[in-house]
This record gives sequence, C-alpha cells and structure tokens, in this order.
Amino acid sequence: MKNIVLIGFMGTGKTSTGRLLANRLGRPFIDTDKKIEQENNMTIPEMFSLYGEAFFRQKEREMAAKVGRYTNAIIATGGGIVLDSENIVRLRFNGYIISLTASVEVILERTGRRNTRPLLNCADREQKVTSLLASRASLYREAADFVIDTSVCTPQQVTDEIIAFLRRGGRLRGRS
Ligand code: S3P
Repeated sequence: MKNIVLIGFMGTGKTSTGRLLANRLGRPFIDTDKKIEQENNMTIPEMFSLYGEAFFRQKEREMAAKVGRYTNAIIATGGGIVLDSENIVRLRFNGYIISLTASVEVILERTGRRNTRPLLNCADREQKVTSLLASRASLYREAADFVIDTSVCTPQQVTDEIIAFLRRGGRLRGRS
C-alpha cells in the first residue's frame, strides 16, 4: 500500500492528524522531524543553533529519501519539506500527498503554545508567518493530491476527510 504523506505549514495539524489517521487505518506513524531528532540525538532548535538551517535541511533531504522508500506508512513531514522539489519527487514515488492549510491567525495561535520552532523565534511572528506562507503557498498546493483547510476542523474531522478522499478514489482497501 502507498504511504500517506502529510505536508503543510507549521501549525496546520500534521502530527496530530497523522497520529489519528495511523490509528484509524492501523498503519505505522512516522514523523520526519522526530526521526531526524532521534537519529541525530539533538532537538531541531539545537540543530539550528549549533549548525544552522542548511544542516537541518540536509538531514531533512536524507530523511525524505529514506521514508520515501517505505510502504504502508502515515508520514507527517516538517513544514519546510516542500522547499526542495526533490523531496516531493521522493515522497510522491510511493505516496499520496495531502496538504493541510490554516489561516495565519490559527497558525499563530497553534504555534504560540510552544517555543519549539526556530523559524518563529523572532520579534514579529505574524510578519514572519505571513511572509513564509506567501513564499511557500504555491509549493504546498502544487505538491498536493488533496488539500484540506484545518482552520475550523478538529484533527478527527480532518482525518475523516482524508479517509473519505482516499476511499473516493479507491486508494484504500480493507477496513478503516
Ligand atoms: C519548519 C517546520 C518544522 C521543523 C523546522 C522547520 C519549517 O516542522 O521542521 O522547525 O521550515 O516550516 P513543523 O511543520 O512540524 O512545525
């Protein structure tokens, strides 16, 4: 079975939706950021501050190549995975790509709860989210087989929509 890959900006619910989806479908859940942290034995903020963003992006590239070879998995990615088109080629090779979106207000609210995102560790978070979103929006859209706005949905509702999309196209077989 193909993987189901969740992409989208920070705070769009990739991790919580991915976990639920994996439970519903009885498939393994993989979070690329968590896996990068485990394999390098340091957190992403530590990686950014010790070695810089480029170092993290290289680890992210290697991770995309690795998980792109998996089958049957639910894969939640980091928000910047779309920055390198090769990552998307690799994830698409054996996966359906679902893009989660949310409004700037909702992203600010969700990402404000914890301080674990180095890119948003700045004075004007609203300006940063707005400009990053503007530069990435078309990348998320173009990479996606299906897009869901999660602004007013619970992860449960988003999961239901993803399952309905997969069923519609005969992309799921068996129980869910
Ligand atoms: C990033 C998003 C983060 C993490 C890193 C960079 C980005 O993941 O990969 O801080 O460039 O958008 P989440 O989208 O899971 O927050």
